[in-house]
Amino acid sequence: MKFYAPTKVYLEKNSVKNHGREMASLGSKALIVTGRHSAAANGSLKDVTDVLEEYDVPYIIFNEVEENPSVDTVAKAAELAIGEKADFVIGIGGGSPLDAAKGVAIMAGNPEEGVECLYEKKPLKPLPFVAVPTTCGTGSEVTPNAVLTRPALHKKGSMSHNVNPDLALVDGKYLASASRNLLISTSVDALSHSIEARLHSNANEYNHMFSEYALRIWSGLIPYLTGQKEADEETYQRFMLSSTTAGMAIAQTATSLPHALSYPLTLDYGVAHGRACGFFEAAYMEEYARNKPEDVECILNLLGFADLAAFDAFMKDLLGPQAIAEEDSDKIADSLISSGKTSTYPFPIDRDGVMRILRKSLEVM
Ligand SMILES: [Fe+2]
Repeated sequence: MKFYAPTKVYLEKNSVKNHGREMASLGSKALIVTGRHSAAANGSLKDVTDVLEEYDVPYIIFNEVEENPSVDTVAKAAELAIGEKADFVIGIGGGSPLDAAKGVAIMAGNPEEGVECLYEKKPLKPLPFVAVPTTCGTGSEVTPNAVLTRPALHKKGSMSHNVNPDLALVDGKYLASASRNLLISTSVDALSHSIEARLHSNANEYNHMFSEYALRIWSGLIPYLTGQKEADEETYQRFMLSSTTAGMAIAQTATSLPHALSYPLTLDYGVAHGRACGFFEAAYMEEYARNKPEDVECILNLLGFADLAAFDAFMKDLLGPQAIAEEDSDKIADSLISSGKTSTYPFPIDRDGVMRILRKSLEVM
């Protein structure tokens, strides 16, 4: 049984300011990697630059990370880091900037390599890396993985290298400016991580603790997602706690079939990552329950649902419907079977089983 969680995490109000000295001590010049707007709007970028200025650490900002970041964006930011002689990387934002920043840490730490190194299996040491999450889904601040888009191959997938952040500075206050839609999409990603880590080939008792605790926290967040209650400062810290805890669980197991099925929905239908995963969770649990219903019972109990039908109805209500063309569902099933990702599911599953999940989750037209 293995458990490995090398990132030092601080989750608290004013986390960046409180632990600025530790962040600033990781290098002599920082490259900040972020998206175009949100880090400036929610105050996280200013918190980070204030701290760097306080400790006299020069920095440059790369703020061109797009949704579902491409390896080309990573290469562009790495070129800037290398040219400016930055020796550590700070990622600020949701999963896209954090994942892109992990790729940058690899490329800028190995300037002799080209962009293809991101998907090559060779040992490459990243630059020191700090993660400041501003959404409550990805868990990227505590996982080693980075999902990047490879436009030439029309594919999304984890890069080959592990980049565990040296430091994660987590603060729910950055969620206060998020729309309800963003809160739903990202927290459903955290829910998906908790479920998939719990129902995974690599699950063990250590990571059960993390996925089960994340599910328990998530159940308390439901009224804020449905609009029955208004979130306050304390609630936003709970949203962050659910996503970092779920991240600690998938850091041990990786994700499973719903995530694998979600990538084509994001690439071809433009569905946000968390929603795309969320569509498949109830049907995944139903499929799993054919083999080990007690694990699914455990999840439903922690979330506070009487049965799978109630959970399925809740998710469909929260996420709305999603249609898919029949030929696309066939392609997704074929590609999942040929990818070998069915090994993340603890029981044998064939194409019919994958199609059952797809058909129960989406409106196949
Ligand atoms: Fe995810």
